[in-house]
Amino acid sequence: MADQDRETLPRRPFGQTGIEVPPLCLGCAPLSSLPQAFNYAVPEERALETIRAAFAGPLNYLDTSNSYGGGESERRIGKVIRELGGVPAGAILQSKADRDPTTKDFSGPRMRRSIEESLERLGVERLEIAFLHDPEYGTYEELVAPGGAVDTLRDLQREGIIGHLGVAGGPIDLLIRFLELGGFAAVLTHNRFTLLDRSAAPLLDYATARGIAVLNAAPYGGGMLVKGPDAFPKYMYKDAPPEMLARVREIAALCDEYGIPLPAAALQFSTRDPRIHSTVVGLTRPERLAQTIDLYQHPIPDEFWARLDSTEG
Ligand SMILES: NC(=O)c1ccc[n+]([C@@H]2O[C@H](COP(=O)([O-])OP(=O)(O)OC[C@H]3O[C@@H](n4cnc5c(N)ncnc54)[C@H](OP(=O)(O)O)[C@@H]3O)[C@@H](O)[C@H]2O)c1
Repeated sequence: MADQDRETLPRRPFGQTGIEVPPLCLGCAPLSSLPQAFNYAVPEERALETIRAAFAGPLNYLDTSNSYGGGESERRIGKVIRELGGVPAGAILQSKADRDPTTKDFSGPRMRRSIEESLERLGVERLEIAFLHDPEYGTYEELVAPGGAVDTLRDLQREGIIGHLGVAGGPIDLLIRFLELGGFAAVLTHNRFTLLDRSAAPLLDYATARGIAVLNAAPYGGGMLVKGPDAFPKYMYKDAPPEMLARVREIAALCDEYGIPLPAAALQFSTRDPRIHSTVVGLTRPERLAQTIDLYQHPIPDEFWARLDSTEG
């Protein structure tokens, strides 16, 4: 990586993993083409161009999962990795182990198959970072049972197939319950630490106190905080309720007062928090990478944040 890139997105230690990550991570869910969630399809060539551009620049930390687009996200990333002859030096790739999409099997053997599928699609022999994905779709008791999902992911770690293990998902209390088991080096929360929802704060505190790395995903709530409430009136992939739309408009008006783009505030709400190691942003066009870095660097005065907090309900 060029020195200039390091200056653009200076890396920081990712918890106690020994890995250094940029403050922004490319979320590769929409790159698999998910019209139900994002309201548009993404042709393969556009996705490949975006992935190529990410690997070539400073925003070369990629987040995917076994399940995004039924594996299409990993397949598209894998195409580029094969073109490049491997993951480029300095880039970081992470994926997540999912239950079976058809049978909903969330067992230990399924976790092993899920990771094997990911390696095959991505064209890599190991995953530097892998997550137990969306444990809310199983039962806690099943996932932590002897020989179950958590045990098997730890086996894969001992075998060297996974470097560091994390847990990624929705409900904050559940994520904390998994972290309490010990052995998780990272946690990924989504849509719950944004301009519109701060409910992940206890998780951020819990992880910080224990040196666990934190990824905050979906700073735009899936798109509304970057495309605007008129163009995309959805939050967390569902129609946003009227009071939420009103709050976005209120925040947008405050942004206007300070001459700040709404998405700069949305992105920096996450990146400015010292408890968060990297913020995972979904995007599907190569030019978005530079736009995202501009939004990350847009000057925002402290007074704006104080005003924002003072209007928080
Ligand atoms: N359970 C989990 O583990 C979990 C859950 C949710 C998310 N995640 C991860 O976090 C990532 C981020 O979440 P997300 O993708 O759902 O939501 P997001 O990052 O809040 O928003 C993604 C949307 O923002 C748009 N966008 C980004 N930059 C833009 C720009 N400069 N101008 C206009 N539009 C812009 C993208 O549109 P374009 O397509 O037009 O670029 C896309 O529609 C996911 O991709 C995934 O990797 C993980």
